[in-house]
Parts: sequence; structure tokens; C-alpha cells
Amino acid sequence: MSRIGVFGAGYVGLVTAASLAELGNDVVVRDVVPEKVERLLRGEVPIFEPGLDELLAKNAERLTFTLDAGEVVDGAEFLFVCVDTPPVAYSGDADLSRVWTIVEELPNVEGNPVLVLKSTVPVGTGEKVRAALDQRGLEHVGYASNPEFTAEGRAVRDFMEPDRIVIGAFDPDDGERVEALYASLDAPVVQMDVNSAEMVKLASNAFLMTRISFINEIANVCEATGADVVRVAEGVGLDKRLGPHFLRAGVGWGGSCFPKDSLALKQLAANSGYHFQLLNAVIEVNELQKRRVIGKLERHLGKLRGKRVALLGLAFKAGTDDTREAPSLVLASRLIAEGAEVRAWDPVVDGKQVMPQAEFCMTVQDAVRGADAAVIVTEWDELRDLARREIRELMARPLIVDGRNLLDPAQARAAGFAYEGIGRPVSPSDVLPERLERDREPSTS
Ligand SMILES: NC(=O)c1ccc[n+]([C@@H]2O[C@H](COP(=O)([O-])OP(=O)(O)OC[C@H]3O[C@@H](n4cnc5c(N)ncnc54)[C@H](O)[C@@H]3O)[C@@H](O)[C@H]2O)c1
Repeated sequence: MSRIGVFGAGYVGLVTAASLAELGNDVVVRDVVPEKVERLLRGEVPIFEPGLDELLAKNAERLTFTLDAGEVVDGAEFLFVCVDTPPVAYSGDADLSRVWTIVEELPNVEGNPVLVLKSTVPVGTGEKVRAALDQRGLEHVGYASNPEFTAEGRAVRDFMEPDRIVIGAFDPDDGERVEALYASLDAPVVQMDVNSAEMVKLASNAFLMTRISFINEIANVCEATGADVVRVAEGVGLDKRLGPHFLRAGVGWGGSCFPKDSLALKQLAANSGYHFQLLNAVIEVNELQKRRVIGKLERHLGKLRGKRVALLGLAFKAGTDDTREAPSLVLASRLIAEGAEVRAWDPVVDGKQVMPQAEFCMTVQDAVRGADAAVIVTEWDELRDLARREIRELMARPLIVDGRNLLDPAQARAAGFAYEGIGRPVSPSDVLPERLERDREPSTS
């Protein structure tokens, strides 16, 4: 078993640390945010990730948390870098300043630990880090790229049961040492050069985003032609060459990875003189998709000024409290700009913090009270039975815009709601009575 240092106690760092401890290693985790470290030392988990609390508690004896970089490095055989790499304002390039801080502040390292980069970085980063380590006289520190593919909401399971483990190394010995760490996991390991390993991560994410933007565009054509994207995706996904994953139409992708990784790859290509046309379209489709809900609401309610809209779900997807680049934020801003009143609900996100311009409600019932429309933004299980009498009676108008195609349209309509999903046929009964009245009014123009 090894002694491992982890830089960064965020979503990736904590899951990595807890899982490596579960595999029997002694792990020291360092973060730079004192409150985070204090909470972890008290046994509290600063993020919501299913299964993480239990895993950290179970392996508490093998886990230490600190603010001190020296403690992480002391006796470590591996140094995992799990810091955030957000986009640089205006340019969209990946901001590697936190990675560089670690490389530059790495205390005098004894032995020959391998620096393992888990953060998502542009291709070429490893070469630059290797050169910087050498320049600092740290030639004895190994280097490996080991991109992270876990998805928030199921990260613990993804770490323990990965589809594959990708390792890129300059020195084959470093690659072998990292591979040995994962020996007890049942997963294919792919070793390659560092540049290719870095690109695997960016290409995988870009491909997933492409699938989502693709099905969202199919959904938009379905809306115009009367087809049902849910049935279309089912029929398409059964083709073994295509598969069923990432074919759910909705309000668009968000989160801490897809938006920034798409920009980073776009800029990486552009900086190398290549215009990545397809990726540009994938990003643009997603931006437009987030706004389509506004059009749907306007079709039913007319002008949104003074209308009350319940936004149900703030997290960028179910199973996480992460709201970075969440479609809910774009929707709330657009609604407020239109003069609507927004009431928001989420089971795990602290809405007062992330959406101060909205009225945050502790229950779904409270959020829909007096609302002219309820919009499902996150596919939380708690919303699966939204189309029920109690909710209908609380709302001023029984309109559900289902941004995740979570509900059965026929059931929602049978329960007395006007219902609109994404890419699903609209029924004449979906037009609210007020809307029919308005349409009948003689034109004044
Ligand atoms: N979140 C995911 O599901 C996911 C999945 C795959 C890859 N990634 C990538 O992994 C990286 C980390 O993502 P995240 O979501 O865990 O980020 P995060 O923001 O949740 O966590 C990063 C942590 O690093 C800490 N930090 C910053 N500078 C530090 C330093 N010098 N020393 C120690 N700690 C420092 C921050 O305080 C923060 O707690 C990113 O590059 C991301 O793209 C994330």
C-alpha cells in the first residue's frame, strides 16, 4: 500500500482521496481553503456526492486533511493534482494557475514520487509541467497524466467501477507505478503518451456534448414536425453502433466540466490554428437550447412580465449540488430580465446563495403556490409525481414545462395540466383557456 498526497479537496479530490483510501492507501489531502479543511477535520463533508460521506467516514483512519503542502509531500509516493481549472475570463482558455502554483510551490521532495495530474488540462500541459519540474531540479519527480472520467452524482461508483483507466507517462516506469495503484479494480487500463492522454479527456467530453446537442436539435425538429424525441431516441439508441447513452433531450448541458472543457478544446484548437467547426456548433446549439423554455412559456402565458414561474431544480443535473453553469441560472436570469417573478426549489442546493434574485422555497408546494407555470429544470426524483391534484390546486394556472421530459405527457394532461416537454408533440388541450381567449381577441393593430 502507498502513501499518497492529494492536492484539492473538491469533487474530484475528495472522491479520489476517499477511494484511494478505500483501496488501502494512506492519503493526505491538502486544500487552500481553511474552512473546507476545518470542516473535513471535524468529519463534515463540504459537498453533496452520494456515497462520499460513508466512504470518508469508513476510511477516516487512513485519511488526513491539511492546509500544509509540506505534509502532503512528506513521504508520498504519489502526488495527485485535483485542483480546478476554470476558464479564463473573456478568452475561454483553461486557467492553469492553480496547477502552476502547486508545481512552483512544491516543497523539496525526497524520494521519487509521481506527480499524477487528474485535473482536466489542455494538450501540452504535461510537457510544460515536466520542463518546469526539471528546471526546478526535480528530475527525480515522475509525471503521469491520469484524466478523471467520473460523473458527479455517481462519482464514487465511477471511480470504483470505471469504464477504463487512461494513463499517459513520459517514463514507462511512472505509468506502471500508477497502473499498479489501480490493480484491484476490474477495468481496462490504456497506457499512452501524455499528450494523447490529455486529449482523451477533452475528446470524450466533446463527444458526449455533441450527442446531447445533436438530440436536442432532433428534438427541436420533432417539435416542428410532430414527432416525439423520446421515442426517436429509443429507436436510435437501440442501434448497437450508436448506443442509448446521452440521447436525452432537455434544457441543455451545464455543470463544472462540459461548458469549460468545450471552451478549452475550442481555444486549444484555435490557438493551434484550427477552427473546430463542429464543436462551435455544439456549443451554440446548447446556448440556444437553454433559452427555448422562455419561448415555450411565452407561447402559453404571453408576456412574462408579472407572471410567477416556479423553477424546480437548480443543480445542473440530479444527484449533485453543483450549480456551476447550470441551465437554471440562465433561465432565472432570462425570466427576471423579462419581468417575471421566480420562485425556486431544489432538494440539495442552497438556493439563497446561488440565486439571490429568486425567492427560494423549501418545498415544491411552496414554489408552485400561485405560480403561472412550473418548469422542471433538474430531473430530481422528487418531481416525478409533480402532475398531481395537490400541485394543480396550488398553482394559479396548471402549466408544466418539462425541461427534462421527466413526466408522462398523457398522465400530466389527464391530471388536468397543460404540459409541454422538449421535442414532444403538443396537444390542443395544452393551450390554456386564457390563451384561447387572448387568441380570439380582435387584433388592434
Ligand atoms: N467535477 C467533476 O465531476 C470532474 C470530473 C472530471 C474531471 N474534473 C476536473 O477535475 C478538476 C477538479 O474539478 P473539481 O470539480 O473537483 O473542482 P473543485 O473546484 O470542486 O475543487 C478544486 C479544489 O482545489 C482546491 N485548490 C485550489 N488551489 C489549490 C492548491 N494550490 N492546493 C490545494 N488545493 C487547491 C480548491 O480550493 C478546491 O477545493 C478540474 O480540472 C475538472 O475539470 C472534474
